[in-house]
Amino acid sequence: MIWHPFTAQAGERPPCKIVRAQREFLYDSDGRDYVDAIASWWTVIHGHNHPAIVEAITQQLQKLDHVLLAGFSHEPAEKLACELLKKTHGDFSHVFYSDNGSTAVEIMLKLALQFWQNSNQSQRSGIVRFSAAYHGDTFGAMSVSAPSIFTAPFRQKLFPTYTWRYPCHAEDAEFFSEWQEFLEQHGNTLAAIVIEPLIAAAGGMVFQSTIALQKLCHMARAHGVLVLFDEVFTGMGRTGTFCAYQQSKVVPDMLALAKGLTGGVLPLAVTLVSAKIHAAFISEKPEHTFYHGHTMTGNPVGCAAALASLALLAAAEEKNLVSTLEQKMQTLWQKVHARHAEKITRPRVYGAASAADLQSKSEAPGYAFSWSRRLRQRALEYGVVLRPLGNVLYLTPPYNISDSALERVFDAIALLLEEYAV
Ligand SMILES: Cc1ncc(COP(=O)(O)O)c(C=O)c1O
Repeated sequence: MIWHPFTAQAGERPPCKIVRAQREFLYDSDGRDYVDAIASWWTVIHGHNHPAIVEAITQQLQKLDHVLLAGFSHEPAEKLACELLKKTHGDFSHVFYSDNGSTAVEIMLKLALQFWQNSNQSQRSGIVRFSAAYHGDTFGAMSVSAPSIFTAPFRQKLFPTYTWRYPCHAEDAEFFSEWQEFLEQHGNTLAAIVIEPLIAAAGGMVFQSTIALQKLCHMARAHGVLVLFDEVFTGMGRTGTFCAYQQSKVVPDMLALAKGLTGGVLPLAVTLVSAKIHAAFISEKPEHTFYHGHTMTGNPVGCAAALASLALLAAAEEKNLVSTLEQKMQTLWQKVHARHAEKITRPRVYGAASAADLQSKSEAPGYAFSWSRRLRQRALEYGVVLRPLGNVLYLTPPYNISDSALERVFDAIALLLEEYAV
């Protein structure tokens, strides 16, 4: 039997069995189709089974399936590293490969801590995390995520951090004056801050202004603190630029990417590292080496998929797919909201991500919000894949979702809201 992720082992319906997929559609064993309105956990940015990615994988498999990346190199990993450094306009000098978002974040954290060790400043070991953060499910990633039902059983084994509210607005004077005070007191013992820039995704699709992000990071930088961006959700065009940081005036010291990197086809992640961080590892002393690597790191087939995904993203950028989708979702959310203003609030859209909050008279918001499971099941009956984050109903469709499929999604939301009693 499969033990499915994030799945209660009692009281859940059997999973929906998918046999094939194409574009924004998943097809089950009875031939029913479903619009994948969340792009299978935010990965399938170009739609399922994109022929260009399938072709790239097929071609790569004729040449090289896998080789360890320690002591060996290969063209797909080298090309992909070059492309990523180009897309980030030289803001980073090195690419460290891994397999998923959690590991890409772990690598940032470990590199940040070792950076200070190698620089003879081991007193800098404090890490700042933010409320609403979700950085993954491994222990380091959980330690820097907001406390939640996900992390509660492991609380005692998570490493200590400083927790700050996720600052959404630059005008939040109270936040920034306390932040300044904190930095004056603890700044010289801090290693890094780690944040999801512009959108705290799994924490409830919380949006942040670019100015708030800039202010937060500039103040931390003034105290020598490293800035780590988790762009596992926001990267690969989701917010309208290749990475979210490119909308702000902050270039992080390191950045994590995963999910849409291969167009959601194969597991691959990267941690982009600035020249300043890398310089602290240029040493022949064995203790200065970064001893970290996952077995399938930099897999050539995954890299080939990512190269094809980047080419498709460039074409999507040319066609302004994300801003077009953004406008369409604005209009459609407004329409639903106008009809059901008492049931949903704060419809919001940022690039190819959108959300609204379900209201309840009897239940507190949060991940355990009881209607979310029912909504998920009913949505499937309407031919749409939705997976609310508790009371937060969100959409992260493939960038090239068709108008008819998007309308099906919003028709389903309207029907679901008809059924929903506040
Ligand atoms: C911002 C962010 N960071 C990290 C992760 C963890 O990624 P993965 O599930 O690939 O380990 C996620 C997953 O949702 C995420 O949204």
